[in-house]
Amino acid sequence: MSKLCIQGDTRLVGDVKISGAKNAAVAILPATILVEGITIIENLPNINDVAILNEAIVSMGAVTKFLDLHTLEIDATTIYKYSATEPCISKMRASYYLLGALLGRFKKAEVAMPGGCDFGGRPIDQHIKGFRALGANIEIEDNIIKINADRLIGTRIYLDMVSVGATINIMLAAVLAEGTTTIENAAKEPHIVDVANFLNKMGAKIIGAGTDVIRIKGVSKLHGGHYNIVPDQIEAGTFMLIAAATKGDICVRNIIPEHMDSLTSKLREIGVTLIEGDDYIRVIWKQKLTATQIITLPYPGFPTDLQPQMLVSLLQAQGVSTIVESIFDNRFQYVDELRKMGANITIDGTKASIEGVDTLYGANLVATDLRAGAAMIIAGLVAKGTTTIDNVRYIDRGYEDIEKKLTALGAQIFRID
Ligand code: EPU
Repeated sequence: MSKLCIQGDTRLVGDVKISGAKNAAVAILPATILVEGITIIENLPNINDVAILNEAIVSMGAVTKFLDLHTLEIDATTIYKYSATEPCISKMRASYYLLGALLGRFKKAEVAMPGGCDFGGRPIDQHIKGFRALGANIEIEDNIIKINADRLIGTRIYLDMVSVGATINIMLAAVLAEGTTTIENAAKEPHIVDVANFLNKMGAKIIGAGTDVIRIKGVSKLHGGHYNIVPDQIEAGTFMLIAAATKGDICVRNIIPEHMDSLTSKLREIGVTLIEGDDYIRVIWKQKLTATQIITLPYPGFPTDLQPQMLVSLLQAQGVSTIVESIFDNRFQYVDELRKMGANITIDGTKASIEGVDTLYGANLVATDLRAGAAMIIAGLVAKGTTTIDNVRYIDRGYEDIEKKLTALGAQIFRID
């Protein structure tokens, strides 16, 4: 059980290199199950969720080998098992992608119900609706989702709400199906496009990823190849907000600036100076931030996964800001922890009102989920005195080398066991 310990009130300055996208990696690893041949995935983030999924596909019979810390060679030809029911599987959200991939390859899958960060109810009814529409039968017994199909036949599937997980899962199940599958009201996040690019590189026929309508023409087989994962939009946004909150000057490198548009326009609006290049954004604090209103929305809207980090930055602004969380119904649980530091935040259902404060004070905090943990790190960097953050395992699920990257920017942050 380790904790992070931060000595705050430090201005962070320098360059940071962003890792590969967690939410692309956790879909692409299961997607390799569909490939008969050798896949080499580059720019994989070195995070716990990737390690768990690697173990899961190895336990199903795949042969994998890390060529270096960020490059994994996978031969999924030898996979013989279509089940993943170990306890670690039910602790993570992205394990639901094993369902789509196993269904696509074997027409059968048995996977433990997914867990992940707790933001209230996180149903998977749209995933199930998609699998059923393709011809699968689904039962849930003892917390295990059991799926089988004689044939998978392409069809039109309209998602009742924009869902990242359902969009990717249906793509995975449909690439080897007969005929054409159309997903309407699809999610458009950069990792959706990345998973489609990966599958296409291996021989799939997917068009429209990144728009509301994705068409997948089934093929009989996917072949091996190399793929390089896109940079992590949320890790990039977290460091951009660290610069804004700590009155810093950070050049966030190895990113796709276009993915950051909703955040860059908000940062400009609240008074932050930004310099954009082809693959970097430099974020410079020059003046007191001003209050704003934000609503989280599916991409290209403001990401829910940057909501907690943005909220902490707005504690540094003049006046009262509001954030409406429209994706998840219970994603403000971490606010109680920030109140221990002197934050003045009022929650009314899915709306937070955030009053700028002169000073936050170090406190002993407990990370309630991954992005809340990142927000607590930002609060600790800003606060006077020492902050400790317990439950670091949440943060390790999604941020590679967080202390190392922050230390290089001048933070005083240590891990204690
Ligand atoms: N929803 C349903 N039914 C479904 C699927 C979703 O009602 O079958 C609802 C959800 O309850 C939510 C909304 O639709 O209200 C959107 O959920 P979505 O399916 O898009 O989320 P997810 O697939 O569970 C992924 C990311 C999350 C990120 C969300 C939103 C992964 C592994 N997780 O979750 O990432 O917050 O999309 O962008 O890709 C994180 O990285 O910290 C994280 C939580």
